[in-house]
Amino acid sequence: MSTPSESQSKFYFDPTLPIEAAPTPPSTWYTDPKFFELEKKHVFEKSWIVVGRTDQLPDPGCYFTGDLVGNPYVVLRDDDGNLRAMHNVCRHHAAVVAQESGRACELVCPYHGWTYHLDGKLKKAPHMGRVENFDRQEFSLPPMSVREWGPFILLDLDGPLGGENNPRNLESDIGKMIEPLECLGFEHMKWIHRKVYTLNCNWKAFVDNSLDGGYHVSYAHEQLAEGLDFGGYRTELFERASIQICESSGKDQRLGEQVAYAWLYPNFFINRYGRMMDTNLVIPLSVDRCQVVFDFYADYDDVDEWNAKRTIRKSIAQSHAIQEEDIEICESSQRGLQSISFDRGRYSSKLEQSVHAFHKILWGDIQDDLTP
Ligand code: FES
Ligand SMILES: [Fe+2]
Repeated sequence: MSTPSESQSKFYFDPTLPIEAAPTPPSTWYTDPKFFELEKKHVFEKSWIVVGRTDQLPDPGCYFTGDLVGNPYVVLRDDDGNLRAMHNVCRHHAAVVAQESGRACELVCPYHGWTYHLDGKLKKAPHMGRVENFDRQEFSLPPMSVREWGPFILLDLDGPLGGENNPRNLESDIGKMIEPLECLGFEHMKWIHRKVYTLNCNWKAFVDNSLDGGYHVSYAHEQLAEGLDFGGYRTELFERASIQICESSGKDQRLGEQVAYAWLYPNFFINRYGRMMDTNLVIPLSVDRCQVVFDFYADYDDVDEWNAKRTIRKSIAQSHAIQEEDIEICESSQRGLQSISFDRGRYSSKLEQSVHAFHKILWGDIQDDLTP
């Protein structure tokens, strides 16, 4: 075996240890900007990442934009209604071309007016005068891979640019998680509301918290704990996904009979309860900041009906209260991870299998770059 290089030992995680013997990753995973750079390159620029919803793009010309680990993107429906995603970076001097969201028949860069067709091809480059070796065809907005899955839109940033095995096979990533989710009818849910939170913690602190098999619930979420029956809590692990399922105690009508928390590596959660669903997308902003986007859906045929509206409002308020509690504990963990007193902790072998699996997948994605 080779001697670990300096960076390897600083970030090292042994994926061969069983959960009973494994320490958690070193705190550098949560605090070192170099590790964050590795994640950008090997995780967020290479995986399928959920960026939006199909209902945001109902017609040709509809578009929305965003930024994923420093990569501005635009997702749109072209003139023929095909879904497309492109790097939203002008080929002239790199300004961001499309802004916010809306409807357009072409994309005009606000800097010097270079204009692109909806398929990304350069249509106009005004006032260029005589330019040598300037082949317009080489100045299209570079495409990304884009897919729809149920109500979600996913991107693979380096998609066709990424060489062999790019984009990844989405079906094999989602794999067995599709069936239990489809049984819950998630494809027919109607989007109703979005809430965005900014957290002072590494993105993994939030993901770890959501994958802990309900470990924190009875301590951190007293009200939610009353509605759940932890005797029946179970976790199913798949290749790049997991589902945590818990029976409800019957004390909280909002939860229905069963609650399912599904996770798609690296940063997307689908939570299904009663007649509601919410998704949590965890977007890394820097090594110690992230944003969590909550989208709420309901399966009511008529969400404008008075009773449904009231139930939905109540459910969103409860979810907001739970999120406030989670923010507090995630930020508290981040503060502790920065302490000189802490490096590695341990896993509960009974409850934290998904957290352990998450760390193993992440290590598998980045370790090639650390091999001396
Ligand atoms: S940067 Fe877009 S037109 Fe100049
Ligand atoms: Fe929580």
